[in-house]
Amino acid sequence: MSTDHELDRLLGEVLAQVRADDPRLAEVVTGAVRHLHAFVRELRPTEEEWLRGIDFLVRVGQTCTPERNELILLSDMLGLTSAVDEVNHAGPADATPSSVEGPFHSPAPARPPGAWIADGPERARAEQMVVHGRVTDTEGVPIAGATVDVWQADDDGRYDTQDPAQPRGNLRGLFTTGPDGGYWFRSVLPASYPVPTDGPVGELLTALGRHPMRPAHVHLRVEAPGHRPVTTHVFVADDPYLDSDAAFAVKDALVVTPVPRTDPAESARWQVDGPFLEFPFDVRLVPVRVPAAVAR
Ligand code: BEZ
Ligand code: FE
Repeated sequence: MSTDHELDRLLGEVLAQVRADDPRLAEVVTGAVRHLHAFVRELRPTEEEWLRGIDFLVRVGQTCTPERNELILLSDMLGLTSAVDEVNHAGPADATPSSVEGPFHSPAPARPPGAWIADGPERARAEQMVVHGRVTDTEGVPIAGATVDVWQADDDGRYDTQDPAQPRGNLRGLFTTGPDGGYWFRSVLPASYPVPTDGPVGELLTALGRHPMRPAHVHLRVEAPGHRPVTTHVFVADDPYLDSDAAFAVKDALVVTPVPRTDPAESARWQVDGPFLEFPFDVRLVPVRVPAAVAR
């Protein structure tokens, strides 16, 4: 009997044993088994290669701690997290596209409009930046009372949770939009940064000839009653890693060019000392249709 015939028989036997009560579980496991068997059929790994792959996955698991999830990092670095984001959050073309959350979100302090979110050593050394925009629906109607949760790295590419020199809650803020849907805050220009490379995923990136860098960005999660929430990033234009983001999270509509401002009248308007970068970013949320029976 040919190997292909034997592989068909084997796959059939494995699938015949899937008898889960939960139909979705059966579907997911069946899909995974079919694709993994197809992988073996196509790649014909040696036993040594197979054990090397298993050893890699074991080490990925062993690297996980309550603070670090190497398995999610592996998913990020293979574009799988972005693929799952896409199948779950694809929206109309006029909505702000979603993008992966990443591992650095944590609860942000509520801050008033215009607050500085940079309260650490970066404030004195980095380029000042004013981020502002409006939250509207996809027709452009302003949404008052939306929450805009932001988090970003500093000019060294470090989050507060990675850097003892930054106070907790630094470069994070929870803002609420005003009557015109507007939000704004003062911060510093973030830098591009590497994902953690001291574990097996780092080894994989090196072996694949890949760099670990993420282009400079600010994360946002925007929520408003009656609208689909969006978790996304806004990226800094001209960053050298925009075309090769290690996490594959860049979308054209999320890239913003910071505008250098040197006019003292502009600095006074935005309440900053001296030159700054203006960083405009509007967010468009998709209204959620409430079923008529629930709407009364
Ligand atoms: C981040 O942007 O914070 C991130 C996303 C995916 C992997 C690593 C970091
Ligand atoms: Fe990030």
